[in-house]
Amino acid sequence: MLLLFWENCWDSISLYCYDLFLVPTVSSLRMKISFIIFFFFYVLFFNGASATPRLPDHFTKSRSQSTLQRPSGQEFFELRQPLPSDHLTPACTVPILDHYFANTIGSPPVSVPYKPPRHCHAPWSRVVLEVHADCKGEQYDRIAAVWLGGVEILRTSTAEPDEAGIFWNVQKDITRYSSLLKLSNQDLTMMLENIVDDIFTGVYHVQVSLLYYKDKGVTAPADKNLGRELGFRFGSPWIAPTRVVGEAPLSLYEPPADLIVPISNNGDRGFWFRINGESDVRTKRVQIPRNTRRAVIELYVSFHGNDEFWYSNPPNSYIRNNNLTTDRGNGAFREVYVTVDGNFVGSEVPYPVIFTGGINPLFWEPVVAIGAFDLPSYDFELTPFLGLLLDGNTHNFGIGVSYSIPFWLVDANLHLWLDHQSEAVQAKLVSQKSPALTLTSSQKFKRLDGTFELEGSRKGRYVGWVKSSEGNLTTIVSRKLKFRNAIQFRRDGNHKTVEQKIKSKTQVKVLTETRILLSRPFIKWRYPLKIITSTRPGSGQGTNLITTNVTESLGKRFANGNSSIFVYNSQVCGGYMEVKDHSVVSGVSDTTQSFRVRDGSRCFSRVVASTNGKLLSDSSSTSCASSV
Ligand SMILES: *[C@@H]1O[C@H](CO)[C@@H](O)[C@H](O)[C@H]1NC(C)=O
Ligand SMILES: *[C@@H]1O[C@H](CO)[C@@H](O)[C@H](O)[C@H]1NC(C)=O
Ligand SMILES: *[C@@H]1O[C@H](CO)[C@@H](O)[C@H](O)[C@H]1NC(C)=O
Ligand SMILES: *[C@@H]1O[C@H](CO)[C@@H](O)[C@H](O)[C@H]1NC(C)=O
Repeated sequence: MLLLFWENCWDSISLYCYDLFLVPTVSSLRMKISFIIFFFFYVLFFNGASATPRLPDHFTKSRSQSTLQRPSGQEFFELRQPLPSDHLTPACTVPILDHYFANTIGSPPVSVPYKPPRHCHAPWSRVVLEVHADCKGEQYDRIAAVWLGGVEILRTSTAEPDEAGIFWNVQKDITRYSSLLKLSNQDLTMMLENIVDDIFTGVYHVQVSLLYYKDKGVTAPADKNLGRELGFRFGSPWIAPTRVVGEAPLSLYEPPADLIVPISNNGDRGFWFRINGESDVRTKRVQIPRNTRRAVIELYVSFHGNDEFWYSNPPNSYIRNNNLTTDRGNGAFREVYVTVDGNFVGSEVPYPVIFTGGINPLFWEPVVAIGAFDLPSYDFELTPFLGLLLDGNTHNFGIGVSYSIPFWLVDANLHLWLDHQSEAVQAKLVSQKSPALTLTSSQKFKRLDGTFELEGSRKGRYVGWVKSSEGNLTTIVSRKLKFRNAIQFRRDGNHKTVEQKIKSKTQVKVLTETRILLSRPFIKWRYPLKIITSTRPGSGQGTNLITTNVTESLGKRFANGNSSIFVYNSQVCGGYMEVKDHSVVSGVSDTTQSFRVRDGSRCFSRVVASTNGKLLSDSSSTSCASSV
């Protein structure tokens, strides 16, 4: 028997086979029969050559277990940073899309025309995208995205429903896309590929709205119902401070760009590029206005199929030597990178978002994993490279994923700030140092047991000046990335530990010609992950007991001059499932999550705990005592 994470996926069951486990709560007889038949054929025809006994990697939860007595219509949520607008009343709320995503596989995405609202036109202080979703029945977790004019504004995934029905809300501040939101004659597009048939009955009902705010940091009367409606559950007294003029901004998108150019696909199957391997670099030619004075590229990314759990993939030698039939290999290092005219300009090892069917599906109810409803995006300051781009010609922007196996969904948005006082600015790339990635690996294994370690780092430094009506400003970008991953198998591969640490640091300095420092945003990310999975024979005949612990956290610090914000989100999960073939016979799960944010001298924290799908406690505080 071998570990679950990287067993072959079943394309005929799972659309993209990015789900590790199947979560439907009711396993009907028919379903069991079809699984058995399918499994029989699978073993007979596809798996016959394997010497290794294998355990199926998809499971259903049986209703008979005591652990799944959830109230009907339960709300799922992601613990996240409150939005600056959470306590404001929108000047207008515009419902824009209302769609039932049923058997949408192979269909084009859903598009609706967008135009800015007539009654509350720009400028807006904030704009928030709200996605409300509900679902009932049996269904996999699905990946989804929302685009405006081909520019991605949200990457999200769904929660897996049950017979009683569930719902959730995702709110995202999309003020950074203001220049797009002001334009008419474009489409808002959503992609959510789903399969609905006799077995998978869950239809995702999605309602998308846009909330426009006109306030300038004025707090609205505390309307708790409104707060609740917006997904902020407590009417908490914490209000994210709105930065005043003159204070250093805590985002690369303040103020928002003048122009946003999508580096994305044509849209027939969503605007994302599907990357199937290392050599699959996807590009788009773009012409940049000659008066561009600043540029930032924003990358959206998610991983699926054999790379859904890339951080737990062993090297191919281990798979080969043990005659395993899995395709989940190629080691545990992945790096998403951006190129301009073939030159490397930045990269990131993405945050390992776990979707709601992943690892142990019981962990992610009703609190989903960090980032599952609002996947992180990654920013690269490209201003030093403007010297290469302002010649009026088109240039080739590319995105690739090192060491990837099928498949990744990626696209990017190029944010451009223009010099409104001139037709063209002058710019030059002064220096560009991007030494190759250093990646060292060590592996030691004997049959199914062993240890695999990877350690990598990358440093880059880019300097360029731009002379616009603002003056001649030099931008210096320094980036540092550190990666460590260790996978250990014991007990004939039945005990697996995955431990990963990722750290990145980016500093952007902007200097005048007289070397006066104008701004120096400093961004630090840190995201460790540890997963322990242990499989033993279960108490019943033909059952296995799978015990899992997951610890993950996401820390992010953004400092600029005298302002700074620190966000720390951490999740600890533990529990077991007893499984027979594809059914979870019983299971117990505990999840605790703690979220803290410190913004200047203000703090907010919230701690939630859930057991067996029920929220046990949920408390929040504005005290800074538990200093972050
Ligand atoms: C793998 O298969 C080869 C050829 O059939 C065989 O010689 C070898 O012993 C097998 N290795 C393991 C670990 O089962
Ligand atoms: C802008 O400043 C840089 C460095 O200070 C200098 O090398 C460059 O010549 C200046 N460009 C112009 C057009 O003055
Ligand atoms: C932060 O710095 C800005 C200018 O750099 C200054 O105007 C402001 O007073 C400072 N704020 C604090 C709280 O020190
Ligand atoms: C794993 O999770 C269980 C259940 O929550 C907990 O009792 C145990 O201490 C955890 N083990 C580790 C190594 O974290």
